[in-house]
Amino acid sequence: MKGVILAGGLGTRLFPLTKVTNKHLLPVYNEPMIYYPIRCLVNAGITDIMIVTGGNNAGDFLRLLGNGKEFGLKHLNYTYQEGEGGIAQALGLTEHFVEGKKVCVVLGDNIIEKNIIAPVRAFEKKSGGAMIILKKVPDPTRFGVPVFDSKGGKGIVRIEEKPRTPRSGYAVTGIYMYDNTVFGIVRTLKPSKRGELEITDVNNAYIKRGTLKWRTLSGWWTDAGTFSSLLNANLMVARTGANKVRNKVRNKAG
Ligand code: DAU
Repeated sequence: MKGVILAGGLGTRLFPLTKVTNKHLLPVYNEPMIYYPIRCLVNAGITDIMIVTGGNNAGDFLRLLGNGKEFGLKHLNYTYQEGEGGIAQALGLTEHFVEGKKVCVVLGDNIIEKNIIAPVRAFEKKSGGAMIILKKVPDPTRFGVPVFDSKGGKGIVRIEEKPRTPRSGYAVTGIYMYDNTVFGIVRTLKPSKRGELEITDVNNAYIKRGTLKWRTLSGWWTDAGTFSSLLNANLMVARTGANKVRNKVRNKAG
C-alpha cells in the first residue's frame, strides 16, 4: 500500500504563526509536526510515501526531511498543491504516484499516540473499498461526524462535515484508506460552501456504494490546526512520551 501525507493548505487558522512558514513545519513538543504523520505511516509498515505540500516555504520540507533517512526510508516523494483547494484536491495530485495501488492517506496535522497497524493490515486483505478511522471526541462539531443507522447498528449512513448538531460523539480522523477508484471519485466532486473539494464527500461516495468500512483508534488522537488543538498536541506528546512509544513500535515491527 502506498502512503500519502497531505501537508498543503495555507494554515490560516494559525495565522500569524503560519505567515512565514508552513503549518506542518511548526513544532509539536520536540519535533516538527510533519514528523508525526510520517511515523504514523512508517510504524504501520508503509514506506513508499508522497508528501503533498503547498503555500510558502515548501522547499523547507526538502531541507528538513531530505530522503527520509531519519525514518529509515530510502526515498521520499514530494508534490506541490497551489492554493487551498481542499483535502480531496490535494489527494487528487497523487494519482500518478499511487499507480493503481491502494493508498493510506494521513492529514499532515493529525497526531496519534499509538499505531494503525491493525486497520492497515485489515484493509490490505480487503479486495477494495475504503476504510476510515473513528475516535470518540468531546467536540465533534469541529470534525467530520458519522451518522450511524437507526437500528443502532454498526453501519454508517452518511458523514456530516462539521455539523452544528452532531449525530454521534465520533470524529472521522484524518487517516483514510482507499482503493484506486478514489481518484475517479475526486474527479466528480464539486467545491463545497467553503470552496474546497471535501474528503467527506469522497467518503460519502464510498458509503453510497456500500463499500466504506470503519475502525476505532486506540490511544489518543488530536489534530493541531488551531491554537487550542496545537497546544493540546504539544501537551499530549510531552505528557505521554508518544515519540518513544512510536519508536518502540517501529523497532518491534522491524
Ligand atoms: O482532522 C480531521 C478532520 O480533518 C476531519 O474530521 C474532517 O472531516 C476533515 O475535513 C478535516 O477537517 P479540517 O477542516 O480540520 O481540515 P483542514 O482544512 O485543517 O486540513 C487538514 C490538513 O489537510 C492540513 O493540515 C493539510 C491538508 N490540506 C488541507 C487543505 C484545505 C491540504 O493538503 N490541502 C488543502 O487544500
